[in-house]
Order: sequence, then C-alpha cells, then structure tokens
Amino acid sequence: MRTVRVNALSKSYDVLIGKNAVEALGEEAKKVCPGALKVLVVSETNVAALYLDPVKAQLEGAGFEVTDYVFEAGEQNKNINEIAGMWNKMAEAGFTRTDFVVGLGGGVTTDMAGFAASTFLRGIKVIQLPTSLLAMVDASVGGKTGIDIPMGKNQVGAFWQPSLVLEDISFLKTLPDEVFTEGMGEVTKHAFIMDLELFDKLGKANGDIRSDEDLLEEIVCMNVSDKASVVGEDENDNGRRQTLNFGHTVGHVIERDSGFTKPHGICVAKGMGIVIDACVRAGTLAKEDADKMKDLLKLYKLPVTDDITPEAIVEGAMNDKKKRGDTLSVILVNKIGQAEIRKMNKEEFLKFLSV
Ligand SMILES: NC(=O)c1ccc[n+]([C@@H]2O[C@H](COP(=O)([O-])OP(=O)(O)OC[C@H]3O[C@@H](n4cnc5c(N)ncnc54)[C@H](O)[C@@H]3O)[C@@H](O)[C@H]2O)c1
Ligand SMILES: [Zn+2]
Repeated sequence: MRTVRVNALSKSYDVLIGKNAVEALGEEAKKVCPGALKVLVVSETNVAALYLDPVKAQLEGAGFEVTDYVFEAGEQNKNINEIAGMWNKMAEAGFTRTDFVVGLGGGVTTDMAGFAASTFLRGIKVIQLPTSLLAMVDASVGGKTGIDIPMGKNQVGAFWQPSLVLEDISFLKTLPDEVFTEGMGEVTKHAFIMDLELFDKLGKANGDIRSDEDLLEEIVCMNVSDKASVVGEDENDNGRRQTLNFGHTVGHVIERDSGFTKPHGICVAKGMGIVIDACVRAGTLAKEDADKMKDLLKLYKLPVTDDITPEAIVEGAMNDKKKRGDTLSVILVNKIGQAEIRKMNKEEFLKFLSV
C-alpha cells in the first residue's frame, strides 16, 4: 500500500492507495476515529450493488455499528434532500460527535458524504472511499464538499477535510470505460500544470493505463501527490490551488450550456484544448508543447476543442462563482508541467480567446 500525506492547514491526513485497500478499512478507521461507535456509509445505487457489503463487513468486523444511506446514482441527486436524508439517518441512529461517515462512491458521493459530515452536529469525521478515477485523483482529496442547487453546480458546500482517504485500485475494474475516460481529463490536467514526469508516463503508456494495475496504482498515486502538494500550500483556494482550474473556466461554461448533459471531464478536456491554443497565440506556450499536450488528450480519447464561441465563453465565465469582482483568474500553461495564474478582465479574456 502506498501512502500520500496531505498536510492541509486545518488537518493532516493520509491517503492510502493500493489493490484491495478496502481490507484495511476496519483497522484504519479505528485509528483515525478513536472512540467512535457508529458509522454511516453513504453510497449510491450502482456502487452499493458492487461494494456496500464488503465495506459494511469491514466496519462491522472492526466493531462499529453500521448504518447505510443509499441514494439513486447520478449528479441530479446531488442535492439538499439527500443530505437531509443522511442527517435524519444519523439522528435516528443516535450519532454523537465522535461517530463518523464513510463516503463510498464517485465524486457525487464523496462530495455529499463530506458535506453531510461537515454539517451534522456542526461537523463529524468523514473517511472517503472513492470508487471512480475522478474521485480518486481529485474529488476525494482536498476537502471541498458540497451539493448543487437549481442555480448551479457546487454552489453550496464547505471545506471539510477527511480524516482518511482509502483508495482501492481494484474498485476501478468495474468502472465503465467512458467514466474512466472522463477521469483522464483531470489526470492529464495534473500532468499539464505541474507534473512532467506524469506527462511522460502517460505518453509511454500509449493510451492505456487500465490494463496494468501496477501502473494504474502508480499513476493514481502521482496524481494524489500532485493534488496534495497544491492543497497543502493553499487549502482555501486563494492562490496556487487555482491552477487546478486549468481548462475549467472554459469547461464549466460548456458543461452548463449543455444543461450538464456533457460530462465534466470531457468539458474540461475541451476547455484545456481551447486554452492551450490561446496560450500559443498569446505567446506563452511553444507550439511544439501545445501539440504534444493535445496529442496526449487525443491518445486518451479526450476531445481538444468545441464549437462554442469566444463571446459565449466570456459571457458564461463572467457568471461563474469562481470569478472575483470583475476579473477572472485564467490559468495558462507556459510549458508542459508549469502553470501560471493571470488576472484578466472581460475584454482581455475575450482577446485571449479570439483567433
Ligand atoms: N470536491 C472536489 O474537489 C471535486 C473535484 C472534482 C469533481 N468533483 C465532483 O465530482 C463529481 C463527479 O465525480 P464522478 O465523475 O466520480 O461522478 P459520479 O460519482 O456520478 O460517478 C460516475 C459514474 O460512475 C459510477 N461508478 C463510480 N464508481 C464505480 C465503480 N467502481 N464501478 C462501477 N461504476 C462506478 C457511478 O455510479 C456513476 O454512474 C461532480 O459532482 C463534481 O462536482 C468534486
Ligand atoms: Zn474538474
């Protein structure tokens, strides 16, 4: 098992990564939640059918009284009604502040389990068991939790660091191919903004990191380390953490314009492709590097462009929650593995995006 330590200001914790890592859950939970008697396992229908029983068995084997809350899979259920359902389950079972939550699922689940934990009794512990590639390399690490409201995605939430993240690489075997590909959007993003070694490794793997579980484990671990280092420096998203938004300012607009029917990772890849081209035009990125980056996206079956207009991007981006005042923090890449945060107003952003 590999360990990545996350040293956020508010809390330090381990991310344990390995094949069959779930077998360590009972013992590890006892270590990080001393005094806990009860646990709520939050999951959704698809994942629960596959993994709820072994997870519950682990926790019961460690002596915890286990309750579960299973919601219908899908982003459309990432809402306050499900959170209220989790609160009620815990209240009915007599949870106290030393008890804890386990989030078992993709990013939808880990975001909601974290948010329910952050609010119940003003905050109880959460252990994350991510089951999708995206949740392993991104959503479960770093403490951003939340839900969607009709006005927008992730508009309500809290920074709430987990007490432990346990990443069982074997869980990825059942992940549908297209969902795996979506996760590659965030993996390639980490390579582009901060990790040349990862970039090279992905290139050498030639579009397939799934068939070799050892390689997959190593790559997940590299991504978790990348995310951990950024979160350690800037937990609350005021500085370097913003570089993780590479491709996202544009990607979010494409995602929202599709009524959230286009997957997040795909939209991020399109956003990255659009920004990569803009960086070349702005002279911050060599054409040769840009071509290599887009080739990597294509190698992993990700798109590199979209027919959205620069005007529509700028209009949409000015309504984004990440905007501060009248300026946007746009993330540029100067060379493979190195990002820059540049403040732009509406006119500057339009000029940057326009051919
Ligand atoms: N908190 C953060 O920092 C952060 C970062 C990125 C994304 N997110 C959030 O993450 C969410 C997207 O995450 P996601 O792509 O994992 O979505 P998801 O949770 O909906 O999972 C995607 C699909 O894969 C299925 N699935 C998951 N694991 C599986 C497995 N092992 N086997 C078979 N099927 C499996 C799910 O049932 C679902 O159908 C969004 O809500 C996004 O806002 C949060
Ligand atoms: Zn993302």
